[in-house]
Amino acid sequence: MQVVRLASETDFSGWREAARALRARGVPPDEALWTVDGAGDLFGEAAPAPQSGAPPFTVPREFLELADTVILHRSDERFALLYRLLWRLQQEPNLLRIASVADVAQARGLARQVSQAAHKMKAFVRFRRVEDECGEIYVAWFEPAHRVVEMTAPFFARRFANMRFSILTPDLCAHWGTRELTFTPGADPADAPREDALEDYWRTYYASIFNPARLKTAQMQKEMPKRYWRNLPEARLIPELIARAEAKTDAMVAQAPSEPTRRVVRAAQRASRDAPYDGAAPTTLEEVCAGVQACRRCDLWKCGTQGVAGEGPARAKLMFVGEQPGDQEDLAGKPFVGPAGKVLDRALAEAGVPRAETFVTNAVKHFKHELRGKRRIHKTPDAGEVSACRWWLDNERRIVRPRVIVALGATATLSVFGKTMPIAKFRQQALQLPDQAQGVVTYHPSYLLRVPDAEAKAKAYALFVEDLKFAWTLA
Ligand code: URA
Repeated sequence: MQVVRLASETDFSGWREAARALRARGVPPDEALWTVDGAGDLFGEAAPAPQSGAPPFTVPREFLELADTVILHRSDERFALLYRLLWRLQQEPNLLRIASVADVAQARGLARQVSQAAHKMKAFVRFRRVEDECGEIYVAWFEPAHRVVEMTAPFFARRFANMRFSILTPDLCAHWGTRELTFTPGADPADAPREDALEDYWRTYYASIFNPARLKTAQMQKEMPKRYWRNLPEARLIPELIARAEAKTDAMVAQAPSEPTRRVVRAAQRASRDAPYDGAAPTTLEEVCAGVQACRRCDLWKCGTQGVAGEGPARAKLMFVGEQPGDQEDLAGKPFVGPAGKVLDRALAEAGVPRAETFVTNAVKHFKHELRGKRRIHKTPDAGEVSACRWWLDNERRIVRPRVIVALGATATLSVFGKTMPIAKFRQQALQLPDQAQGVVTYHPSYLLRVPDAEAKAKAYALFVEDLKFAWTLA
């Protein structure tokens, strides 16, 4: 048995070096034992002898990216699993394409869970303000599901570039002094400050964005798993908000969409002011979000409360492109959360497409509308606005690199394909796009809401579900 001793739980370069050496020396997976003991001397005294004449061997970049993520999982099996894949890749270079291989499916599943943990960390870290000898500093205690601190810390550094902060976790602590990110060993929850005024701020904010009409308790716990609740000040509100949800829903249905409250406007203005964006092409989705807030490519920024960038995993296989955020999306800062979003959610569920695995965005990132009394009435963006905003969609496409892009409705079709196309004629076809993705056109969910005749509506909806299934099979 060949024992490999890695320096730490997330020692990717050590794993990579050892795996290469073992593979080159012909050590099969069941003869390798992976351990973490902090020594990092890989094989200790007993280095395996190289196999003479072993062919040089490279692995696809996709595998390295997968391995780099999987290693952050808490599963004890991850090092061995990755080595089994590496072992087979030499003979089977297309192995990762075969989703039915148990090890491939397991590795992809672990990678997905790591990405979800990173996503949750971005959403649920709550800073508390304290003073130290240098002045104000923000400190958070967080318990990530997997070892995602190093992966996620740059997101916080970009987002809070001018704010000194420390994120303390049991695995590792990240510190940002406004210039450089540093890391220290894991901490104890007692090291993080507990109560302060920021908690009230979070509770107020959460109560303001809590949408009773969308209350699905099971879904909510999936999005905000209970394991995170104890560190979230707003979580204390949840039982009460759930209890009040029904009455609030009725009131909301009765109420027409209205202008954003001053609080929402102020929050969006703050986000826009804080968005570090220098005009360069973004390289991450976070930079797209920041850039969209600061965008002045056309005049629509004056219209909406905030820019609404796309949402979903950075490696989604399927991208949906809508037209532009509507009234509720503009307030929430998220795409497809209003009535059209509900139609999309229902149709996706019927088509068996998990929305959380797709990237959902819009051709235009601001809500174009006109005021009628207090109501904000949707206006279709013109070709100039679609063209100005294509910069952002193109950047999202370049970063996510989806295999399939679904254009929802005419504006999205114009933006994705650069021309208008009759949807009834082109639906259910895989159309080649220049960036290697396949394009699919289908109806916009709002159109389905507007079809007046019930029978025609049901028929159009059934076609829409068919189109979503078709797109998913291509992805
Ligand atoms: N309609 C769209 O096209 N996009 C949204 O995000 C919401 C409604």
